[in-house]
Amino acid sequence: MRIPLVDLKAQYQSIKSELDDAVMSVISKTAFVRGPFVIDFEREFSDISGVKNCISCGNGTDAIYAVLRSLGIGQGDEVITVANSWISTSETIGQTGALPVFVDIDDHFTIDVNKIEEKITPNTKAIIPVHLYGQSCDMDAIMRICNQHDLFCIEDCAQAHFATYKTNMVGTFGHAATFSFYPGKNLGAYGDAGAVITNNDNLARQVRLFVNHGSIKKHDHEIEGVNSRLDGIQAAVLLAKLPHIHEWNTSRNRIGLSYNERLSEIEELVTPVIRPDNFHVFHVYCVMTNHRNELMEFLSEKGISTAIHYPTPLPFLQAYAYQDNQAADFPRVHANISRLLSLPIYPEMTEEMIDYIVASTTEFFCSI
Ligand SMILES: Cc1ncc(COP(=O)(O)O)c(C=O)c1O
Repeated sequence: MRIPLVDLKAQYQSIKSELDDAVMSVISKTAFVRGPFVIDFEREFSDISGVKNCISCGNGTDAIYAVLRSLGIGQGDEVITVANSWISTSETIGQTGALPVFVDIDDHFTIDVNKIEEKITPNTKAIIPVHLYGQSCDMDAIMRICNQHDLFCIEDCAQAHFATYKTNMVGTFGHAATFSFYPGKNLGAYGDAGAVITNNDNLARQVRLFVNHGSIKKHDHEIEGVNSRLDGIQAAVLLAKLPHIHEWNTSRNRIGLSYNERLSEIEELVTPVIRPDNFHVFHVYCVMTNHRNELMEFLSEKGISTAIHYPTPLPFLQAYAYQDNQAADFPRVHANISRLLSLPIYPEMTEEMIDYIVASTTEFFCSI
């Protein structure tokens, strides 16, 4: 059996006619950049999120950058974020001229809230928590810290569309939240796409200006911005997929919990720890083992694709060598460098596939 890490073709086949019609209707209406599909998507996404404003943009990286710039963050400022994420979370901070300040992770692969306050200085302006792998951060603690220290909170929801923390959806706690709709994401477009959501109307207006050359009204450029707009085809694809996202997330959650239960017997494997009262949408199913490379090779020989999210934690990337970050300051994330492994997870996986992955993983640990 061959099992990919994600299978976008399987998802396409499951709603093929809806997607084909959606794309063709954009072409027949020549609504290629912004236009009615984009307006509809923004309305539906903000309605489902229960947030007043949704501003679409070109990708999830630009979404973070647009919020940071719109909050006035720049040279001389510091922004705190987590040591384990995709580089978009920190490179956007650096691109504003501010300093990205990293915090180690907790047991849930999310920012360790007990280590945030020691990193706050008079220059700190914001915290960007990342709901990594599909699980919410400890938002009560993060919002308490933000309120106490008068900091902005920008939730990076790129991997956690419609995950919940207690009774609320991620993206509804902070001053703003950013999403990526990169094709492999839980809600994925057929190209790059992103969005910002916020209840703050002034911030929403600033972001809307920023992502469209500083203009809301044509030829009236209030500020210098960037060209980062959602195109009609991506909006139509996202609109076609939105009615299915809850069902897809439910499948991911079921598969993740099933893996957790069935792999829990293996002593040398650490399965994801799920926060109580939290709906984990398992964008990634990440385990830890001291035998990572051997397991990866063994599964590959069995036809099972795996990946590492991420091979080098942000503080130790060449891009941040200037910070001279030390392993001792990031003990958890550093200890995981050679231990993380992501197993296949996507809504269309069959029970047979899950059985095969569990059996192959178990076989590996019995053989060592
Ligand atoms: C945590 C996180 N933040 C931000 C991004 C950036 O999204 P995009 O690729 O749409 O720019 C990603 C994408 O992989 C991500 O995983």
